[in-house]
Amino acid sequence: MNRDGNTKSIWQEGIEEYQSKNQWDKNEVYDVLIIGGGITGLSIALVLQEKGMKCILAEGHNIGFGTSGGTTAHLNTLLDTPYATIKKNFGLSIAMQVAIGAREAIDLIEGLTSKYNIDCDLAYKPAYLFAQTDEEANELEKIKDANQKVSILTEWSETIPVPIPFVKAIKVDFQGQLHAAKYLHGLASAFEENGGVILQHCIVNNISGDDIISADTSIGVIKAANAVYATHIPPGLNIFSMRCAPYRSYAMAFTLKTGEYPAALVYDSKDPYHYIRTHKINGQDYIIAGGSDHKTGHNDNTEYIFTELEAWARHYFDIDTVTYRWSSQYYNSVDGLPYIGKMPGQDNVYMATGYGGNGMIFGSLAAKMLCNIIHKEETPYEDLFDPSRIKMIAGFSNFVKENADVISMFISKRLSYEHISQLAELAPGQATICEWENNKVALYKNEDGHIYAVDPVCTHAKCIVAWNTAEKTWDCPCHGSRFAPNGDLLTGPAMKGLTQIKWEDIEGD
Ligand code: FES
Repeated sequence: MNRDGNTKSIWQEGIEEYQSKNQWDKNEVYDVLIIGGGITGLSIALVLQEKGMKCILAEGHNIGFGTSGGTTAHLNTLLDTPYATIKKNFGLSIAMQVAIGAREAIDLIEGLTSKYNIDCDLAYKPAYLFAQTDEEANELEKIKDANQKVSILTEWSETIPVPIPFVKAIKVDFQGQLHAAKYLHGLASAFEENGGVILQHCIVNNISGDDIISADTSIGVIKAANAVYATHIPPGLNIFSMRCAPYRSYAMAFTLKTGEYPAALVYDSKDPYHYIRTHKINGQDYIIAGGSDHKTGHNDNTEYIFTELEAWARHYFDIDTVTYRWSSQYYNSVDGLPYIGKMPGQDNVYMATGYGGNGMIFGSLAAKMLCNIIHKEETPYEDLFDPSRIKMIAGFSNFVKENADVISMFISKRLSYEHISQLAELAPGQATICEWENNKVALYKNEDGHIYAVDPVCTHAKCIVAWNTAEKTWDCPCHGSRFAPNGDLLTGPAMKGLTQIKWEDIEGD
Protein backbone atom coordinates (compact mmCIF):
# COMPACT_ATOMS: atom_id res chain seq x y z
CA MET A 1 0.00 0.00 0.00
CA ASN A 2 1.50 3.33 -1.03
CA ARG A 3 1.31 6.56 0.93
CA ASP A 4 1.87 10.22 0.19
CA GLY A 5 5.52 10.47 1.19
CA ASN A 6 8.86 8.82 1.65
CA THR A 7 8.30 7.33 5.12
CA LYS A 8 6.51 4.06 5.88
CA SER A 9 3.74 3.81 8.45
CA ILE A 10 3.30 0.74 10.60
CA TRP A 11 0.01 0.05 8.80
CA GLN A 12 1.76 -0.43 5.46
CA GLU A 13 3.70 -3.46 6.70
CA GLY A 14 2.59 -6.49 4.73
CA ILE A 15 -0.42 -4.68 3.26
CA GLU A 16 -0.66 -4.83 -0.51
CA GLU A 17 -2.54 -2.28 -2.55
CA TYR A 18 -6.28 -2.93 -2.42
CA GLN A 19 -7.54 -4.75 -5.53
CA SER A 20 -10.86 -3.39 -6.76
CA LYS A 21 -13.30 -6.05 -7.94
CA ASN A 22 -16.47 -4.54 -9.36
CA GLN A 23 -16.64 -3.02 -12.82
CA TRP A 24 -17.61 0.55 -13.55
CA ASP A 25 -20.67 0.74 -15.80
CA LYS A 26 -19.93 3.84 -17.87
CA ASN A 27 -23.58 4.17 -18.90
CA GLU A 28 -24.84 4.18 -15.33
CA VAL A 29 -25.93 7.37 -13.59
CA TYR A 30 -24.92 6.56 -10.04
CA ASP A 31 -26.80 7.88 -7.03
CA VAL A 32 -23.65 9.14 -5.37
CA LEU A 33 -20.07 9.72 -6.49
CA ILE A 34 -17.68 9.72 -3.55
CA ILE A 35 -14.34 11.38 -4.23
CA GLY A 36 -11.60 10.07 -1.93
CA GLY A 37 -10.73 6.62 -0.58
CA GLY A 38 -9.84 7.33 3.03
CA ILE A 39 -11.82 6.81 6.22
CA THR A 40 -14.47 9.38 5.25
CA GLY A 41 -15.00 8.25 1.67
CA LEU A 42 -15.08 4.54 2.40
CA SER A 43 -17.37 4.91 5.42
CA ILE A 44 -19.83 7.11 3.54
CA ALA A 45 -19.73 4.85 0.50
CA LEU A 46 -20.52 1.79 2.59
CA VAL A 47 -23.39 3.25 4.64
CA LEU A 48 -24.99 4.79 1.54
CA GLN A 49 -24.67 1.56 -0.40
CA GLU A 50 -26.18 -0.35 2.51
CA LYS A 51 -29.17 2.01 2.34
CA GLY A 52 -29.77 0.97 -1.25
CA MET A 53 -28.00 3.73 -3.13
CA LYS A 54 -25.78 2.95 -6.10
CA CYS A 55 -22.40 4.43 -5.26
CA ILE A 56 -19.10 4.79 -7.03
CA LEU A 57 -15.92 5.85 -5.25
CA ALA A 58 -13.03 7.51 -7.11
CA GLU A 59 -9.62 7.63 -5.43
CA GLY A 60 -6.76 9.51 -7.10
CA HIS A 61 -4.11 7.09 -5.87
CA ASN A 62 -4.82 3.93 -3.86
CA ILE A 63 -7.04 3.20 -0.86
CA GLY A 64 -5.34 4.63 2.25
CA PHE A 65 -2.86 6.76 0.27
CA GLY A 66 -3.50 9.91 2.28
CA THR A 67 -3.85 10.61 5.97
CA SER A 68 -6.00 7.56 6.69
CA GLY A 69 -2.97 5.38 5.94
CA GLY A 70 -0.83 7.44 8.29
CA THR A 71 -3.18 8.03 11.21
CA THR A 72 -2.35 6.43 14.55
CA ALA A 73 -5.98 5.31 14.55
CA HIS A 74 -7.15 6.40 17.97
CA LEU A 75 -10.89 6.06 18.59
CA ASN A 76 -11.46 8.66 21.27
CA THR A 77 -14.40 10.38 22.81
CA LEU A 78 -11.67 12.52 24.38
CA LEU A 79 -11.17 14.93 21.48
CA ASP A 80 -8.27 17.20 20.47
CA THR A 81 -10.51 20.22 21.05
CA PRO A 82 -11.29 19.76 24.76
CA TYR A 83 -14.93 19.85 25.80
CA ALA A 84 -14.00 22.76 28.07
CA THR A 85 -13.14 24.74 24.92
CA ILE A 86 -16.22 23.57 23.00
CA LYS A 87 -18.41 24.46 25.99
CA LYS A 88 -16.82 27.89 26.31
CA ASN A 89 -17.18 28.65 22.60
CA PHE A 90 -20.52 27.02 21.81
CA GLY A 91 -22.28 26.22 25.10
CA LEU A 92 -22.87 23.09 27.10
CA SER A 93 -25.60 21.52 24.98
CA ILE A 94 -23.42 21.61 21.87
CA ALA A 95 -20.47 20.18 23.80
CA MET A 96 -22.76 17.37 24.95
CA GLN A 97 -23.92 16.74 21.40
CA VAL A 98 -20.33 16.54 20.15
CA ALA A 99 -19.55 13.99 22.87
CA ILE A 100 -22.56 11.90 21.81
CA GLY A 101 -21.38 12.15 18.20
CA ALA A 102 -17.92 10.87 19.10
CA ARG A 103 -19.45 7.83 20.82
CA GLU A 104 -21.81 7.24 17.86
CA ALA A 105 -18.78 7.25 15.56
CA ILE A 106 -17.07 4.58 17.63
CA ASP A 107 -20.31 2.58 17.72
CA LEU A 108 -20.50 2.78 13.92
CA ILE A 109 -16.92 1.50 13.61
CA GLU A 110 -17.63 -1.32 16.02
CA GLY A 111 -20.88 -2.16 14.23
CA LEU A 112 -19.29 -2.30 10.77
CA THR A 113 -16.33 -4.27 12.09
CA SER A 114 -18.65 -6.81 13.64
CA LYS A 115 -21.14 -7.00 10.76
CA TYR A 116 -18.49 -7.55 8.10
CA ASN A 117 -16.01 -9.47 10.25
CA ILE A 118 -13.32 -6.89 9.60
CA ASP A 119 -10.16 -8.23 11.21
CA CYS A 120 -8.66 -4.87 12.18
CA ASP A 121 -7.50 -5.41 15.78
CA LEU A 122 -10.25 -3.18 17.21
CA ALA A 123 -9.64 -2.90 20.96
CA TYR A 124 -10.84 -0.75 23.84
CA LYS A 125 -8.40 0.59 26.39
CA PRO A 126 -8.31 3.24 29.09
CA ALA A 127 -6.85 6.61 28.16
CA TYR A 128 -4.67 8.61 30.54
CA LEU A 129 -4.04 12.32 30.16
CA PHE A 130 -1.41 13.64 32.52
CA ALA A 131 0.01 17.00 33.63
CA GLN A 132 3.65 17.69 34.48
CA THR A 133 3.38 21.28 35.70
CA ASP A 134 0.96 23.18 37.91
CA GLU A 135 -0.30 25.11 34.91
CA GLU A 136 -1.02 21.88 33.05
CA ALA A 137 -2.71 20.51 36.18
CA ASN A 138 -5.05 23.52 36.21
CA GLU A 139 -6.00 22.82 32.62
CA LEU A 140 -6.52 19.17 33.48
CA GLU A 141 -8.99 20.16 36.18
CA LYS A 142 -10.99 22.12 33.61
CA ILE A 143 -10.87 19.20 31.18
CA LYS A 144 -12.06 16.77 33.84
CA ASP A 145 -14.85 19.11 34.92
CA ALA A 146 -16.05 19.59 31.32
CA ASN A 147 -15.82 15.85 30.61
CA GLN A 148 -18.11 15.18 33.55
CA LYS A 149 -20.57 17.79 32.29
CA VAL A 150 -20.79 16.10 28.88
CA SER A 151 -21.20 12.71 30.56
CA ILE A 152 -17.77 11.31 29.78
CA LEU A 153 -16.88 9.47 32.93
CA THR A 154 -13.47 10.76 34.02
CA GLU A 155 -11.61 10.02 37.20
CA TRP A 156 -8.39 11.13 38.81
CA SER A 157 -5.68 8.51 38.63
CA GLU A 158 -2.85 8.07 41.11
CA THR A 159 -0.81 6.17 38.57
CA ILE A 160 -0.17 6.11 34.85
CA PRO A 161 1.00 2.99 33.00
CA VAL A 162 4.20 4.57 31.61
CA PRO A 163 7.45 5.54 33.37
CA ILE A 164 6.98 9.29 32.90
CA PRO A 165 6.88 11.65 35.92
CA PHE A 166 3.62 13.56 36.36
CA VAL A 167 1.83 15.67 38.93
CA LYS A 168 -1.78 14.85 38.05
CA ALA A 169 -3.54 12.47 35.69
CA ILE A 170 -7.07 11.64 34.60
CA LYS A 171 -8.34 8.34 33.30
CA VAL A 172 -11.15 7.77 30.78
CA ASP A 173 -12.26 4.22 30.00
CA PHE A 174 -13.50 2.70 26.74
CA GLN A 175 -11.29 4.58 24.33
CA GLY A 176 -10.31 2.58 21.27
CA GLN A 177 -7.73 1.78 18.65
CA LEU A 178 -7.49 -0.29 15.49
CA HIS A 179 -5.24 -1.17 12.54
CA ALA A 180 -5.93 1.61 10.06
CA ALA A 181 -5.13 -0.15 6.78
CA LYS A 182 -6.97 -3.35 7.70
CA TYR A 183 -10.05 -1.35 8.63
CA LEU A 184 -9.95 0.66 5.39
CA HIS A 185 -9.54 -2.47 3.29
CA GLY A 186 -12.36 -4.12 5.23
CA LEU A 187 -14.65 -1.17 4.49
CA ALA A 188 -13.66 -1.28 0.83
CA SER A 189 -14.43 -5.01 0.57
CA ALA A 190 -17.77 -4.59 2.35
CA PHE A 191 -18.68 -1.73 0.03
CA GLU A 192 -17.95 -3.86 -3.01
CA GLU A 193 -19.79 -6.86 -1.55
CA ASN A 194 -22.82 -4.58 -1.37
CA GLY A 195 -22.43 -3.74 -5.06
CA GLY A 196 -20.38 -0.55 -4.87
CA VAL A 197 -17.65 0.35 -7.36
CA ILE A 198 -14.15 1.55 -6.44
CA LEU A 199 -11.97 3.23 -9.04
CA GLN A 200 -8.38 3.65 -7.84
CA HIS A 201 -5.85 5.84 -9.66
CA CYS A 202 -8.80 7.84 -10.92
CA ILE A 203 -8.20 11.57 -10.53
CA VAL A 204 -11.32 13.71 -10.54
CA ASN A 205 -10.34 16.93 -12.32
CA ASN A 206 -13.62 18.73 -12.17
CA ILE A 207 -17.31 18.25 -11.49
CA SER A 208 -20.11 20.16 -13.19
CA GLY A 209 -23.84 20.04 -13.79
CA ASP A 210 -26.92 20.64 -11.70
CA ASP A 211 -29.39 17.76 -11.35
CA ILE A 212 -26.93 15.27 -12.82
CA ILE A 213 -23.28 15.79 -11.99
CA SER A 214 -20.64 15.03 -14.60
CA ALA A 215 -17.23 14.31 -13.15
CA ASP A 216 -14.38 14.72 -15.58
CA THR A 217 -11.76 12.19 -14.45
CA SER A 218 -8.43 10.84 -15.66
CA ILE A 219 -10.23 7.71 -16.94
CA GLY A 220 -13.48 9.12 -18.28
CA VAL A 221 -16.67 10.87 -17.26
CA ILE A 222 -18.62 9.60 -14.25
CA LYS A 223 -22.25 10.62 -13.90
CA ALA A 224 -24.06 10.78 -10.58
CA ALA A 225 -27.00 12.51 -8.91
CA ASN A 226 -24.88 13.56 -5.91
CA ALA A 227 -21.20 13.98 -5.16
CA VAL A 228 -19.29 13.91 -1.89
CA TYR A 229 -15.85 15.46 -1.51
CA ALA A 230 -14.11 13.14 0.94
CA THR A 231 -10.73 14.53 -0.03
CA HIS A 232 -9.53 15.70 3.40
CA ILE A 233 -10.17 19.27 2.27
CA PRO A 234 -12.30 20.25 -0.74
CA PRO A 235 -10.06 20.85 -3.75
CA GLY A 236 -9.49 24.21 -5.39
CA LEU A 237 -9.79 27.75 -4.14
CA ASN A 238 -12.69 27.98 -1.74
CA ILE A 239 -13.43 29.26 1.76
CA PHE A 240 -12.19 26.07 3.39
CA SER A 241 -8.61 26.91 2.44
CA MET A 242 -9.06 29.97 4.67
CA ARG A 243 -10.97 28.18 7.41
CA CYS A 244 -8.69 25.18 7.85
CA ALA A 245 -4.98 25.18 8.69
CA PRO A 246 -2.76 22.23 7.67
CA TYR A 247 -0.54 20.52 10.24
CA ARG A 248 2.00 17.70 10.06
CA SER A 249 2.04 15.13 12.82
CA TYR A 250 4.81 12.60 13.51
CA ALA A 251 4.80 9.02 14.72
CA MET A 252 7.25 6.22 15.29
CA ALA A 253 6.91 2.59 16.34
CA PHE A 254 9.53 0.85 18.42
CA THR A 255 10.16 -2.34 20.36
CA LEU A 256 11.25 -2.43 24.01
CA LYS A 257 14.07 -4.35 25.63
CA THR A 258 11.89 -4.92 28.69
CA GLY A 259 8.89 -6.38 26.89
CA GLU A 260 6.53 -4.39 29.16
CA TYR A 261 4.05 -2.75 26.84
CA PRO A 262 1.39 -0.58 28.50
CA ALA A 263 -2.20 -1.61 27.69
CA ALA A 264 -3.44 1.97 27.46
CA LEU A 265 -3.51 5.17 25.45
CA VAL A 266 -1.42 7.85 27.16
CA TYR A 267 -1.12 11.58 26.44
CA ASP A 268 0.92 14.38 27.98
CA SER A 269 -0.38 17.97 28.13
CA LYS A 270 2.38 19.73 26.21
CA ASP A 271 1.84 21.92 23.19
CA PRO A 272 2.60 20.25 20.85
CA TYR A 273 1.80 17.13 22.81
CA HIS A 274 3.17 13.59 22.84
CA TYR A 275 1.23 10.38 23.09
CA ILE A 276 1.86 6.69 23.14
CA ARG A 277 -0.15 3.58 22.46
CA THR A 278 0.71 0.00 21.61
CA HIS A 279 -0.09 -2.34 18.74
CA LYS A 280 0.83 -5.91 17.90
CA ILE A 281 1.78 -6.56 14.27
CA ASN A 282 2.59 -10.12 13.13
CA GLY A 283 3.07 -11.24 16.73
CA GLN A 284 5.43 -8.39 17.66
CA ASP A 285 4.39 -5.71 20.16
CA TYR A 286 5.26 -2.11 19.38
CA ILE A 287 4.91 1.17 21.17
CA ILE A 288 3.65 3.88 18.86
CA ALA A 289 4.80 7.31 20.02
CA GLY A 290 3.58 10.41 18.29
CA GLY A 291 3.01 14.12 18.30
CA SER A 292 5.47 17.01 17.73
CA ASP A 293 2.95 18.59 15.35
CA HIS A 294 3.66 21.77 13.42
CA LYS A 295 2.14 23.71 10.57
CA THR A 296 2.81 22.13 7.20
CA GLY A 297 5.73 23.70 5.37
CA HIS A 298 6.81 25.68 8.43
CA ASN A 299 9.74 23.56 9.57
CA ASP A 300 13.02 23.51 7.69
CA ASN A 301 14.18 20.18 9.06
CA THR A 302 11.37 17.68 9.49
CA GLU A 303 13.97 14.93 9.73
CA TYR A 304 15.15 16.48 12.98
CA ILE A 305 11.64 16.23 14.42
CA PHE A 306 11.94 12.46 14.30
CA THR A 307 15.26 12.79 16.14
CA GLU A 308 13.57 14.88 18.83
CA LEU A 309 10.62 12.50 19.10
CA GLU A 310 12.95 9.54 19.41
CA ALA A 311 15.02 11.36 22.05
CA TRP A 312 11.82 12.03 24.02
CA ALA A 313 10.84 8.36 23.82
CA ARG A 314 14.33 7.10 24.70
CA HIS A 315 14.33 9.33 27.76
CA TYR A 316 11.49 7.26 29.24
CA PHE A 317 11.62 3.88 27.55
CA ASP A 318 14.31 1.27 27.12
CA ILE A 319 14.02 1.14 23.35
CA ASP A 320 15.32 -1.85 21.47
CA THR A 321 14.66 -0.99 17.83
CA VAL A 322 12.87 1.87 16.11
CA THR A 323 11.15 0.03 13.28
CA TYR A 324 8.82 2.58 11.70
CA ARG A 325 8.58 6.33 11.56
CA TRP A 326 6.19 8.36 9.51
CA SER A 327 4.30 11.61 9.34
CA SER A 328 0.86 12.59 8.17
CA GLN A 329 -1.31 15.64 7.77
CA TYR A 330 -4.45 16.98 9.37
CA TYR A 331 -6.52 20.15 9.12
CA ASN A 332 -7.57 22.26 12.09
CA SER A 333 -10.74 24.24 11.59
CA VAL A 334 -11.05 27.84 12.72
CA ASP A 335 -13.39 27.05 15.60
CA GLY A 336 -12.25 23.54 16.52
CA LEU A 337 -15.26 21.70 15.06
CA PRO A 338 -15.33 19.99 11.66
CA TYR A 339 -17.24 21.16 8.59
CA ILE A 340 -19.55 18.38 7.46
CA GLY A 341 -22.60 18.83 5.24
CA LYS A 342 -23.64 20.50 2.03
CA MET A 343 -21.01 22.36 0.07
CA PRO A 344 -22.04 26.03 0.44
CA GLY A 345 -24.15 27.18 -2.50
CA GLN A 346 -24.67 23.68 -3.91
CA ASP A 347 -27.68 21.39 -3.66
CA ASN A 348 -26.26 17.98 -4.34
CA VAL A 349 -22.56 18.31 -3.48
CA TYR A 350 -21.39 17.43 0.03
CA MET A 351 -18.12 17.70 1.90
CA ALA A 352 -16.32 16.97 5.15
CA THR A 353 -13.12 18.55 6.44
CA GLY A 354 -11.44 20.17 9.47
CA TYR A 355 -11.25 17.06 11.65
CA GLY A 356 -8.13 18.13 13.58
CA GLY A 357 -6.43 15.03 14.97
CA ASN A 358 -9.70 13.11 15.27
CA GLY A 359 -10.06 11.87 11.71
CA MET A 360 -11.24 8.37 12.57
CA ILE A 361 -14.02 9.81 14.72
CA PHE A 362 -15.20 12.67 12.53
CA GLY A 363 -14.69 10.69 9.30
CA SER A 364 -17.03 8.02 10.66
CA LEU A 365 -19.51 10.53 12.05
CA ALA A 366 -19.49 12.27 8.65
CA ALA A 367 -20.63 9.00 7.09
CA LYS A 368 -23.67 8.79 9.36
CA MET A 369 -24.48 12.47 8.98
CA LEU A 370 -24.12 12.71 5.23
CA CYS A 371 -26.12 9.53 4.76
CA ASN A 372 -28.97 11.17 6.70
CA ILE A 373 -28.65 14.49 4.91
CA ILE A 374 -28.60 12.89 1.46
CA HIS A 375 -31.70 10.91 2.43
CA LYS A 376 -33.28 14.11 3.76
CA GLU A 377 -33.48 12.61 7.22
CA GLU A 378 -32.93 14.63 10.36
CA THR A 379 -29.57 14.59 12.04
CA PRO A 380 -28.78 16.48 15.25
CA TYR A 381 -25.40 17.44 13.84
CA GLU A 382 -26.48 19.20 10.65
CA ASP A 383 -26.48 22.74 12.05
CA LEU A 384 -23.62 22.08 14.43
CA PHE A 385 -21.16 21.06 11.72
CA ASP A 386 -22.75 23.07 8.90
CA PRO A 387 -19.95 24.11 6.50
CA SER A 388 -21.71 27.45 6.01
CA ARG A 389 -21.61 28.35 9.68
CA ILE A 390 -19.77 31.46 10.73
CA LYS A 391 -18.41 31.42 14.25
CA MET A 392 -16.12 34.40 14.25
CA ILE A 393 -16.21 34.69 18.03
CA ALA A 394 -15.33 31.09 18.61
CA GLY A 395 -12.46 30.94 16.19
CA PHE A 396 -11.54 34.44 15.35
CA SER A 397 -8.13 34.67 17.02
CA ASN A 398 -7.08 31.39 15.37
CA PHE A 399 -8.46 32.62 12.08
CA VAL A 400 -6.34 35.77 12.18
CA LYS A 401 -3.23 33.89 13.28
CA GLU A 402 -3.50 31.10 10.71
CA ASN A 403 -4.04 33.50 7.84
CA ALA A 404 -1.33 35.85 9.03
CA ASP A 405 0.98 32.85 8.60
CA VAL A 406 -0.27 32.47 5.05
CA ILE A 407 0.25 36.11 4.21
CA SER A 408 3.76 36.22 5.66
CA MET A 409 4.66 33.18 3.58
CA PHE A 410 3.53 34.92 0.42
CA ILE A 411 5.88 37.78 1.17
CA SER A 412 8.93 36.41 2.93
CA LYS A 413 9.46 33.28 0.85
CA ARG A 414 9.15 35.21 -2.36
CA LEU A 415 11.85 37.65 -1.38
CA SER A 416 14.43 35.18 -0.17
CA TYR A 417 16.38 33.07 -2.67
CA GLU A 418 19.73 31.51 -3.28
CA HIS A 419 21.83 31.48 -6.40
CA ILE A 420 21.82 28.55 -8.79
CA SER A 421 25.52 28.03 -8.05
CA GLN A 422 24.19 26.13 -5.04
CA LEU A 423 23.29 23.43 -7.51
CA ALA A 424 26.88 22.23 -7.59
CA GLU A 425 26.80 21.84 -3.82
CA LEU A 426 23.54 19.93 -3.71
CA ALA A 427 24.23 16.56 -2.10
CA PRO A 428 22.21 13.46 -2.97
CA GLY A 429 18.93 13.57 -1.06
CA GLN A 430 19.03 17.37 -0.71
CA ALA A 431 16.75 20.02 -2.15
CA THR A 432 16.88 23.77 -2.52
CA ILE A 433 15.02 26.65 -4.09
CA CYS A 434 17.23 28.89 -6.14
CA GLU A 435 17.05 31.65 -8.71
CA TRP A 436 17.47 31.07 -12.40
CA GLU A 437 16.96 33.91 -14.89
CA ASN A 438 14.75 35.84 -12.48
CA ASN A 439 12.62 32.80 -11.81
CA LYS A 440 12.64 30.54 -8.84
CA VAL A 441 13.46 26.91 -9.40
CA ALA A 442 12.91 24.11 -6.89
CA LEU A 443 15.64 21.51 -7.21
CA TYR A 444 15.96 18.08 -5.70
CA LYS A 445 18.83 15.66 -6.23
CA ASN A 446 17.83 12.07 -5.50
CA GLU A 447 20.14 9.43 -4.06
CA ASP A 448 21.21 8.40 -7.59
CA GLY A 449 22.19 11.93 -8.47
CA HIS A 450 19.20 12.59 -10.71
CA ILE A 451 18.03 16.19 -10.40
CA TYR A 452 14.38 17.16 -10.52
CA ALA A 453 13.56 20.78 -11.31
CA VAL A 454 10.09 22.22 -10.78
CA ASP A 455 8.47 25.61 -10.47
CA PRO A 456 8.05 26.14 -6.68
CA VAL A 457 4.96 28.32 -7.12
CA CYS A 458 2.05 26.30 -5.72
CA THR A 459 -0.70 25.82 -8.29
CA HIS A 460 -3.39 26.44 -5.67
CA ALA A 461 -2.88 30.09 -4.72
CA LYS A 462 0.73 30.79 -5.66
CA CYS A 463 2.57 30.41 -2.36
CA ILE A 464 6.13 29.10 -2.57
CA VAL A 465 6.44 25.46 -1.53
CA ALA A 466 8.95 24.26 1.07
CA TRP A 467 10.99 21.06 1.10
CA ASN A 468 9.98 18.37 3.58
CA THR A 469 13.27 16.65 4.38
CA ALA A 470 11.70 13.57 5.95
CA GLU A 471 8.98 12.86 3.41
CA LYS A 472 10.98 14.15 0.42
CA THR A 473 8.05 16.17 -0.80
CA TRP A 474 7.37 19.79 -1.64
CA ASP A 475 4.83 21.02 0.92
CA CYS A 476 2.89 24.23 0.63
CA PRO A 477 3.01 26.35 3.80
CA CYS A 478 -0.25 28.12 3.00
CA HIS A 479 -2.99 25.51 2.66
CA GLY A 480 -1.08 22.24 2.81
CA SER A 481 -0.97 20.96 -0.78
CA ARG A 482 1.84 18.48 -1.25
CA PHE A 483 3.85 17.48 -4.29
CA ALA A 484 6.32 14.75 -5.26
CA PRO A 485 9.92 15.73 -6.20
CA ASN A 486 8.93 15.64 -9.88
CA GLY A 487 6.03 18.00 -9.19
CA ASP A 488 3.22 15.41 -9.27
CA LEU A 489 0.30 16.32 -7.04
CA LEU A 490 0.11 14.13 -3.93
CA THR A 491 -2.60 15.88 -1.93
CA GLY A 492 -4.78 18.98 -2.43
CA PRO A 493 -6.35 21.44 -2.15
CA ALA A 494 -4.27 22.17 -5.29
CA MET A 495 -5.78 20.43 -8.29
CA LYS A 496 -2.67 20.05 -10.42
CA GLY A 497 1.01 19.40 -9.90
CA LEU A 498 3.91 21.82 -9.91
CA THR A 499 5.17 22.72 -13.37
CA GLN A 500 8.13 20.59 -14.33
CA ILE A 501 11.11 22.48 -15.68
CA LYS A 502 12.88 20.49 -18.30
CA TRP A 503 16.44 20.02 -17.19
CA GLU A 504 17.83 20.86 -20.65
CA ASP A 505 16.26 24.32 -20.32
CA ILE A 506 18.64 25.07 -17.51
CA GLU A 507 21.66 23.22 -18.79
CA GLY A 508 21.23 24.61 -22.30
CA ASP A 509 21.82 28.19 -21.21
FE1 FES B 1 -2.83 27.05 -1.19
FE2 FES B 1 -0.44 26.16 -1.89
S1 FES B 1 -2.02 25.08 -0.95
S2 FES B 1 -1.22 28.17 -2.08
